[in-house]
Amino acid sequence: MAERVRVGVIGASGYTGYELLRVLVAHPAVEISVATSEQYAGQQVAELFPSLARLLDLTLSPLLEEGLEERCDTVFLALPHKTAMRAAVRFLAAGKRVIDLSADFRLRDAQTYEAWYGAAHEARSWLARAVYGLPERYRSAIKEAQLVANPGCYPTSAILPLAPLLSEGLLVPESIIVDALSGVSGAGRKLEAQYLYGEAAESVKAYGVPRHRHTPEIEQELSVAAGVPVTITFTPHLLPMTRGMLSTIYAQPRLPLSASQFREVLAKAYGEEPFVRLCAAGRLPEARHVRGSNFCDIGVEVDSRTGRLILISALDNLVKGASGQAVQNFNLMHGLAETLALRTPGLAL
Ligand SMILES: NC(=O)c1ccc[n+]([C@@H]2O[C@H](COP(=O)([O-])OP(=O)(O)OC[C@H]3O[C@@H](n4cnc5c(N)ncnc54)[C@H](OP(=O)(O)O)[C@@H]3O)[C@@H](O)[C@H]2O)c1
Repeated sequence: MAERVRVGVIGASGYTGYELLRVLVAHPAVEISVATSEQYAGQQVAELFPSLARLLDLTLSPLLEEGLEERCDTVFLALPHKTAMRAAVRFLAAGKRVIDLSADFRLRDAQTYEAWYGAAHEARSWLARAVYGLPERYRSAIKEAQLVANPGCYPTSAILPLAPLLSEGLLVPESIIVDALSGVSGAGRKLEAQYLYGEAAESVKAYGVPRHRHTPEIEQELSVAAGVPVTITFTPHLLPMTRGMLSTIYAQPRLPLSASQFREVLAKAYGEEPFVRLCAAGRLPEARHVRGSNFCDIGVEVDSRTGRLILISALDNLVKGASGQAVQNFNLMHGLAETLALRTPGLAL
């Protein structure tokens, strides 16, 4: 068998970090050689995550441990923004390939980053070299990239259904509204009152209105697809489930096309895609059908009364919205089958 790629999971104690470990322990071309945590440094990974017992024998290291970069070939950064850009520079300078799950390299324009994230960009020279890691849009560039900016979960759920329709000039660009629901794990494994069971259970709320940080990322990619600047209205909601995301998207068509005509355009774009599934007429996606899987399911309807197009997408925020997509990018970067370790069904029950 060919040599395995030595992989570092930086920020392994968080939700996306765990999800990376869960997928990568079953990856036939990977050896997980580094996993980091500050809080749990020195502990065995399986002590922190008993689900990995007998599957991974590795001690958690602190990020600043000397020589970490010599122990891996490619790293996944599952760190908060800002911390991620500093870590990225260190591993990139050592010639490693980096897949960053944070927002630090997703926006092409440093000023837009600074305006929306309220922090100076400390690695501007890498912004132009980062490739946006949405395989369905940038597959060939991802294969060659040293730095991949893995997309956000909300952006993935909005860009996949909309981009092909905007590329064909079928939608009025300024008419787009995205209403999205996310499970609580979308906020990470941190202690904050609003994410406590007693606060989040049996309720639902909008947040980040009207300036959620994913807005410029969605607009950036929809503008590339449309070839003209696109601004959107985006409202995320916190839903009391652990993982999963459902986005309902409204747009005004330029021409009075039927749902099946819109579906045909998406089928042409995604017919060969391994992780995008179009729902048949009369069916709509559900979060449980993609839970734990790398699929994004898309449903299409047209409201004949208003003429409005309604797109619904479902994905798992931790998989196609984060770590699964990151492994899809890893596979592309290493010339492996894109679906390796990822072709699992959703946990519908
Ligand atoms: N959750 C999602 O659904 C999702 C989806 C897409 C993208 N993302 C992005 O992915 C990244 C990770 O998200 P997450 O949800 O996995 O976060 P998380 O659960 O809060 O985990 C954060 C990880 O970063 C480590 N960390 C925090 N501060 C650090 C520091 N100063 N130095 C070194 N390590 C540090 C933590 O380690 P210790 O606490 O053990 O020290 C932990 O392992 C974020 O940038 C997030 O925006 C998340």
